[in-house]
Amino acid sequence: KNKDVHTMIEAHELLKKFYHHLLINTKEGQEALDYLLQRGFTKETIEKFEIGYSLDSWDFVVKFLTKRGFDAELMEKAGLLVRKQSDQSFLDRFRNRIMFPIHDHHGNTVAFSGRVLNKNEQPKYLNSPETKIFNKSKLLYNFNQARLHIRKQEQAILFEGFADVISAAASGVEHSIATMGTSLTDEQAKILKRNVSDIIICYDSDSAGADATIRASRTLTSIGCKVRVAVISDGMDPDDYIRKHGPEKFRNDVIGASVTLTAFKMQYYRRGKNLQNEGERVEYIEKVLHEISSLKSPVEQEIYLKQLSSEFSLPIEVLKEQIHRSSGRKD
Ligand code: CTP
Ligand code: MN
Ligand code: MN
Ligand code: MN
Ligand code: MN
Repeated sequence: KNKDVHTMIEAHELLKKFYHHLLINTKEGQEALDYLLQRGFTKETIEKFEIGYSLDSWDFVVKFLTKRGFDAELMEKAGLLVRKQSDQSFLDRFRNRIMFPIHDHHGNTVAFSGRVLNKNEQPKYLNSPETKIFNKSKLLYNFNQARLHIRKQEQAILFEGFADVISAAASGVEHSIATMGTSLTDEQAKILKRNVSDIIICYDSDSAGADATIRASRTLTSIGCKVRVAVISDGMDPDDYIRKHGPEKFRNDVIGASVTLTAFKMQYYRRGKNLQNEGERVEYIEKVLHEISSLKSPVEQEIYLKQLSSEFSLPIEVLKEQIHRSSGRKD
């Protein structure tokens, strides 16, 4: 069993190097390389993250691995091959995709995520399945390279996507990590907490990203992490932002301008609400007061109460009275 694990990792290491070679040095990889360069990835970044390219072939990997003595059935269990329905023969899982190797927290290559070149093809990212060596819910992308930076800076930045992490790291924000295309799990949060307490969530600025920010913040605060939110403007994601505005603006105006979770929620709860409408306004104010009442620091409470008070022209005493009354009741 241990031997199988070792063999699976070895196959991933070999294939990673070959995918990378295909991207960098071959005619077949040219289109993928052009795509990456035109997107703003530099040669240096492509090297650092060992990005590659899988050929547009049904059996290139089958041959590559079996020629080197790897058992096809084991390679299927490793997620690198799939079986054809009709005759049970083996096929490559990844074809004609940009290959992002995924490393476990010790640095072993344990999976891949393959991105299409063509925008209209689905799925955009194809990931390795769960295997003996790849447990999505316990793995954070780039954690292996980010760990020391996270410890040194006593902070981690959590992103949604691989491209975001890669662009951020290339911009000097090296304490960057991401989940594997899923919500942050309790296991991932606990792994983070063992290394750091301060987390900045920097998800995409669409509504899916905002919803996911709320979910991840709950997971993190429930185990004692301190969460801030770095907000990206107008529909972009962090990678788009960096390409458009450059590393310095990203570091200063996004990461450097991160807001408290409470400030983020005060914005978030406004979504889809018409605050001109009295009923919706009251609902909004009560929701925010509920957030404020859960803050431990009286100073912080006072700051947000003042904000609410001035925005809605309500005496701060009234807001305090409201908190006082609601806290008497169970919810
Ligand atoms: N994802 C996935 N499968 C998909 C789409 C997305 O696993 N079909 C995951 C990937 O890890 C991706 C993350 O969800 O990085 C965020 O998705 P999205 O914001 O759509 O992708 P981007 O990272 O912005 O990808 P790109 O910039 O390359 O379009
Ligand atoms: Mn190289
Ligand atoms: Mn997204
Ligand atoms: Mn995105
Ligand atoms: Mn993107």
